[in-house]
Amino acid sequence: MHPLAKELNEIIQSGNHHIYEMLSELGKNLYFPKGILSQSAEAKKLAHKYNATIGVATENGQPMYLPSALKYFNNLEPKDLFFYAPASGIPELRQVWKEKIIQENPQLQKKAFSHPIVTNALTHGLSIVADLFADPHDKLILPDKLWGNYKLIFGVRKKVDIEYYPFYKENGGFNLTGFQETLEKCSAAGKLLIILNFPNNPTGYAISQSEAKKLVEILQNIAKNGCNIIPIMDDAYFGLFYEEETLRESLFGYLADLDKRILAVKIDGATKEEFVWGFRVGFITFASANTPNEVYAALERKVMGAIRGNISNCAHPSQTVVLRILKSPTFRQEQQAKFELLKSRAQEVKKVLNNSKYQEVWNVYPFNSGYFMCLQLKTVNAEKLRTHLLEKYGIGIIAINETDVRIAFSCLELNQIQDLFEQIYLAIKDLEPN
Ligand SMILES: Cc1ncc(COP(=O)(O)O)c(C=O)c1O
Repeated sequence: MHPLAKELNEIIQSGNHHIYEMLSELGKNLYFPKGILSQSAEAKKLAHKYNATIGVATENGQPMYLPSALKYFNNLEPKDLFFYAPASGIPELRQVWKEKIIQENPQLQKKAFSHPIVTNALTHGLSIVADLFADPHDKLILPDKLWGNYKLIFGVRKKVDIEYYPFYKENGGFNLTGFQETLEKCSAAGKLLIILNFPNNPTGYAISQSEAKKLVEILQNIAKNGCNIIPIMDDAYFGLFYEEETLRESLFGYLADLDKRILAVKIDGATKEEFVWGFRVGFITFASANTPNEVYAALERKVMGAIRGNISNCAHPSQTVVLRILKSPTFRQEQQAKFELLKSRAQEVKKVLNNSKYQEVWNVYPFNSGYFMCLQLKTVNAEKLRTHLLEKYGIGIIAINETDVRIAFSCLELNQIQDLFEQIYLAIKDLEPN
């Protein structure tokens, strides 16, 4: 093992030995080399005369650039576009994102947690968590309604064993009993990775405040009984909560200081929150109870090592633009307008689905947030319906399994919603046996 990795492990071990136990083989071996990046970071601070450290080209104190590239970026300076961004992201962006998290999650106001590290959006953040904490045959707990990419990130790439629980309880709402039973069944493994994704993809369901309270208690009890837990909050759709009783904060705030055996990981980003899907700007943030800042700093070095050994660093122009968005005086106002629009679409979907004739062909899964909602088909196969809708009606929806389809109301104009469900109804009628 590299001495720098050893040094980081010792810091983590002495600050919170449970976090050390949670690290994967790769996680234990990761470190951030004192190579070009680290030496050039030092030079950036101290080399006032000449800085000949890094593989970029400069001219007149600026990065060299082609005017054909700069002309697409009004109001941005070459230095904020063309140079490499630091391995952990633009420092000011990290600070502003931290302030944003605190503002949106009052639970965090008096709690210690790490500085967010910039990732190439949420998928990359999840993949870094997998690098740091997932070994083959570790247990990953997932609901049966999930974003399928978790299977590639953790199942295919890391060979973890995935345990599923049914997402909904029978009469709607989050299935706390199934969640608890699955955790209890698996806790003998001594370490559990758990992804918590609210608002959920594909269902568009976010837990209520009372469900959140119980979920937190369940995790606390499992930890108290000696199991290390890594709850990973996938907050991709954070903020898009459309109903009053919904928990409007990330569970991260509730889990941040619960137990030393719980390492809460927040994966979030500008992707969906700021409507910049293709920019690829996300963040990874850690918190655990009574854990000194040196441990977070050591985890940060390991994350930087994971980034350096994979994509080297994240794109600079999109970080610069996201920082400008967050600092814009009209940011919240603009974001609120888009929130209202998406909320009105969710409400329109609910209104349209009240039509009693639809009850004979589908059940509507509870939804209250995010971009999506799901239907459970009663009379036809989901994939057959999907292809029929495409071929005969020119309509695209997602078939999730034999019975369920996902509809992204986020992509429908208000005045298209009624027609969409009517067309789906007609397509089902085409396929039903006479
Ligand atoms: C639940 C969930 N998590 C993560 C992601 C990935 O987000 P990103 O595009 O930022 O990688 C998505 C994207 O669809 C998602 O639905």
